[in-house]
Amino acid sequence: MKIIECANYDEASAACADIFAEQLKKKPDSILGLATGSTPVGTYRLLAEKCARGEISFKRVKTFNLDEYYGIGPGHDQSYAYFMRDNLFDHVDIEPANTNIPDGLAKDVGAECRRYDELQNATCDGLDIQLLGIGPNGHIGFNEPDDVFTAGTHLVELEASTIDANARFFASRDEVPKSALTVGMRTIMNAKKVVIVASGEGKAAAVRAMLDGPVTPRVPASILQLHPDVVVIADSAALGKL
Ligand code: F6R
Repeated sequence: MKIIECANYDEASAACADIFAEQLKKKPDSILGLATGSTPVGTYRLLAEKCARGEISFKRVKTFNLDEYYGIGPGHDQSYAYFMRDNLFDHVDIEPANTNIPDGLAKDVGAECRRYDELQNATCDGLDIQLLGIGPNGHIGFNEPDDVFTAGTHLVELEASTIDANARFFASRDEVPKSALTVGMRTIMNAKKVVIVASGEGKAAAVRAMLDGPVTPRVPASILQLHPDVVVIADSAALGKL
């Protein structure tokens, strides 16, 4: 793993945006794996600015998001579909038809999970680059600490700590969906390159467990120790427990 230590969130966002911009310059029809949450907001803003300046284009890009809350639709302002439009897609020249997010309103969850995995497989032999944040409990995507690593896209019950962490985005904790659809470890580990960004001391324990602890589904991000091309972009606070 390559570790890029940054002074703060803004520097980490700039470092991450530069990696994604280089990827798009090198391969304009890249297939990107994208994340939501507070971590990538700065990266997406910088990518939108680079696009507005004509330095990069998303015209030929395809995207697959990691996850979506289960039980809310793309029009809900806390859905990840809404987040992606709000933070990136509406500000760059991407074709909406080339963006993919699991359907949080799917009636047949198993069929939706299969559809999402099959679509990725039909589109590419591994995403070109996967962007990740990390949960304070070490989750990636919504792969929560568990007894096993799950390979494919699946429905997960969110941990109480994840619901607590995400309650800040909702009017009340009760409104946070209790489950989500998430890609599994196969999507993440098959990506040709993984960039994981962590900012703030709330992530420090998870970052240490990811980098220095055993590879275990109790710390889902620890599986990245087995990936051949991972870049960890973290600020000093997030690296503070190493
Ligand atoms: C989001 C996702 C999650 C977040 C993680 C960190 O699509 O898959 O794993 O990356 O919960 O969230 P933030 O960035 O809000 O701290």
